[in-house]
Amino acid sequence: MKALVALILLVQLPIHKAVPAAPTAPLGCDDPEAEAAAEVAVSYINSHSHHGYKFALNRIDNIRVLPQGLNNDIMFLELDLLETTCHILSPTPLANCTVRSFTQHAVEGDCDVKLQKLDGKLSVLASKCHSDADSSEDVLQLCPGCPLLASLNNTEVLTTVTAALNYHNSKTADAYLRLLEIGRAQIQAHPVHIVSVEFAVAATNCSAEEAKDNVEACQLLPDDQSNFGFCTATMVMSPSKDLKVDCQLYGHQTQTVFLFQPGVTYSQPGQDTSAGLLPSVVQGFTNHNLRLSHNSPAASESSSSEFPTSMLSAKSVAKRAVAEVAQHDKVPHPVGFVPPPPPCPGKIRHFKI
Ligand SMILES: *[C@@H]1O[C@H](CO)[C@@H](O)[C@H](O)[C@H]1NC(C)=O
Ligand SMILES: *[C@@H]1O[C@H](CO)[C@@H](O)[C@H](O)[C@H]1NC(C)=O
Ligand SMILES: *[C@@H]1O[C@H](CO)[C@@H](O)[C@H](O)[C@H]1NC(C)=O
Repeated sequence: MKALVALILLVQLPIHKAVPAAPTAPLGCDDPEAEAAAEVAVSYINSHSHHGYKFALNRIDNIRVLPQGLNNDIMFLELDLLETTCHILSPTPLANCTVRSFTQHAVEGDCDVKLQKLDGKLSVLASKCHSDADSSEDVLQLCPGCPLLASLNNTEVLTTVTAALNYHNSKTADAYLRLLEIGRAQIQAHPVHIVSVEFAVAATNCSAEEAKDNVEACQLLPDDQSNFGFCTATMVMSPSKDLKVDCQLYGHQTQTVFLFQPGVTYSQPGQDTSAGLLPSVVQGFTNHNLRLSHNSPAASESSSSEFPTSMLSAKSVAKRAVAEVAQHDKVPHPVGFVPPPPPCPGKIRHFKI
């Protein structure tokens, strides 16, 4: 009998060894630990994005934790983000950036992020994002007649940007500005034909007056003096032409060490903002894609194999959890019982898209 017990123990021993440490309770998408990881992830995504706008967290879709050892976890996050009104070059901290409303034709970002949590310290190992504008049908359903996003290379958009920048440069006593990129554009057809544009600019080493003599000699300021800015403009096309322009320079930012690297030089024949830079990637698109906005392939464009397919099955786990909660609900509960929320996806911070 003793021998049998010993044998059983012996047989079981290697099995016990193979079993990993007891799994901790799964992390919910709205747990503070998940939110802390998402904050680090969003900050990483914005700091590695070189085009378009900063994105803010809308919802944590899913989280998966793979324990690696003592105080060492790998975390996989699926995040839904929304475009804010802050250009990526803006020094405004994300917390102060306004998320664009649904009626402004929202742009949503989807990101998979892999983080490591080592001794309580979070760092991003990889991220993979893409972004899409909401469908025009969705916008029009809720807001008939709302202006929709237009292609960034739309002729009316380019005309408005050029006119706006020329107008600003003709009025200012300060530095002559050059176009860096068009951020977004919306066109309203009725009742008035209006083109609204937003674009990033940079100061050159010329005053607007000096630029009149020889615009070709006006260069963007070197990195250590760079001064970026942002313009909004609306042009009423008909019944009568009317242009409104507002440009603000951010002032030199010491932390803007990364350099805005345009894809190609964009030029519009016969216009004197011709040295404006427009990344080729936006041709034919209404928004800068977060995927293409990440300029550091090694750090942020890891292959999808980095993200386990089991993340997908984690979704069904979440669904099962919901189902279980629903099951529990059939059982009568004492008054005041609040069923626990499903662990994932988490709460929506702004609006559903
Ligand atoms: C951001 O918002 C906080 C709180 O409203 C405010 O105190 C701070 O000055 C703002 N910062 C910027 C750069 O706007
Ligand atoms: C701007 O910089 C360019 C290149 O360094 C130089 O040729 C030009 O004279 C400068 N313009 C002014 C107004 O300083
Ligand atoms: C915008 O770019 C797309 C893709 O390159 C092209 O097919 C389209 O003709 C362009 N539109 C304009 C107005 O240049």
